[in-house]
Amino acid sequence: MSIFRNKIILGTSAVGTLIGGIVLLKDRMQGATFEKNVRADGKVVIITGANTGIGKETAYALARRGAHVYMACRDMVKCEEARKDIVLDSRNPQVYCRECDLASMQSIRQFVKQFKAEQQRLDILINNAGVMRCPRTLTKEGIELQLGVNHMGHFLLTHLLLDTLKLSAPSRIVVVSSLAHTRGQIALDDLNSVKSYDEAKAYEQSKLANVLFTRELARRLEGTGVTVNALHPGIVDTELMRHMGIFNSWFSGLFVCPFVWPFLKSPLYGAQTTLYAALDPELEKVSGQYFSDCAPKEVADQAKDDRVAKWLWAVSEKWTGTLTGTAAVS
Ligand SMILES: NC(=O)c1ccc[n+]([C@@H]2O[C@H](COP(=O)([O-])OP(=O)(O)OC[C@H]3O[C@@H](n4cnc5c(N)ncnc54)[C@H](OP(=O)(O)O)[C@@H]3O)[C@@H](O)[C@H]2O)c1
Repeated sequence: MSIFRNKIILGTSAVGTLIGGIVLLKDRMQGATFEKNVRADGKVVIITGANTGIGKETAYALARRGAHVYMACRDMVKCEEARKDIVLDSRNPQVYCRECDLASMQSIRQFVKQFKAEQQRLDILINNAGVMRCPRTLTKEGIELQLGVNHMGHFLLTHLLLDTLKLSAPSRIVVVSSLAHTRGQIALDDLNSVKSYDEAKAYEQSKLANVLFTRELARRLEGTGVTVNALHPGIVDTELMRHMGIFNSWFSGLFVCPFVWPFLKSPLYGAQTTLYAALDPELEKVSGQYFSDCAPKEVADQAKDDRVAKWLWAVSEKWTGTLTGTAAVS
C-alpha cells in the first residue's frame, strides 16, 4: 500500500516538475518587453490589421497610452468587436474603426480620403496586417495575395499618407516584417508567381519586400523628420497560421500544438517590438533599421541589395498606380 502511495507521490511530483518546467520555458520565450513609460497622448496612429493578433495588442497598448487609434481593417464586424474591448479596457474613447482592405487599391484610397477628411496629422503609421501561406489568390488588381496585401497594399497606403506624415514630423512608420525575410528571394522574372506558386516562398518574398521597402523609403525620407523601421515580432500565437492545415486539424490539436505552445509568444509580447519602434524616444532619428526583441538586428544579405530595392520600388509604383493613379499589373 505504501509502495503504491509512494509511486503516486513520485508520479504527481514528476508531473508537477514537468508543468513547472513548461511554464518556465514559456515565460522565457516571451522575449523582451518595452518597459519605458512613454505616453502617446493626442498622437494620431493608424494600425492596419488591428482587429486581432499583434495588431490588436498594439492598438490596446497605444490606446492605454492616450493615442487616437485608427484601426484600419477589412472586416468591420470583427473590427468593431475588437474596438469595444479596447475602449472598455483602456477607457479611451478615441479608438476608431475604418474600413481598409489592403487587397483593394480602391479601398485603400477610400480609407485615406476619409482619414484625411477627419485628421490633419498622423504621428505613427503601423503597417501590421498580413496574410501567410494562403492558396494562390489574387487581389482586386490581380496581384498575388501575399505580395499584394503584405507589401503592395502597404506601399500604396504609405505613399498616400506621406504628405500628412511629413507635415506631422517628427513622425514614424513601422513595418511589421518577419524573420522569414531571411529565407526570401525577390523573383525578378516572376514577382507575381504566375509561372509557379509556392505558398511559403511567396510569404518569404513578401516579407523580404517589407525590409527592402523600408530600406529604400528610409533613403528617400532622409531629412524629412519621418523615420521608417522594420521588425520581426517573434513567433507569436495568433491567427496567422489559419491557412496552414497542419495547425488546424484535430491531430495537430492533440499531438503538435502542445509541443509547439511553450515556444510561442503571446500576442501581448508579440506587440512589444512594434511598441519599441513606435514609441522609444531614443529612436526618434533612427531610420532604415530592423529590430527584433526590442533591439537592432542585422538583416539578411538579400535585404541589403539596393539594386533590387530600387527595382521593387519602381515595379510597386507601377502596380499600385502611385504615379499615374491607375494600377497596371503585368
Ligand atoms: N504571428 C507570428 O508568428 C508572426 C511572425 C512574424 C511576422 N508576423 C507578422 O505580424 C503581422 C501581424 O500578424 P499576426 O500574427 O497578428 O496575424 P493575424 O492574427 O492573422 O492578424 C493579421 C491581421 O491582418 C489582417 N488582414 C489580412 N488580410 C488583410 C487585408 N486584405 N486587408 C486588411 N487587413 C488584412 C487580418 O484581418 P482579418 O482578421 O479580417 O483576416 C488581421 O487583422 C503580419 O504582418 C505577419 O506577417 C507574425
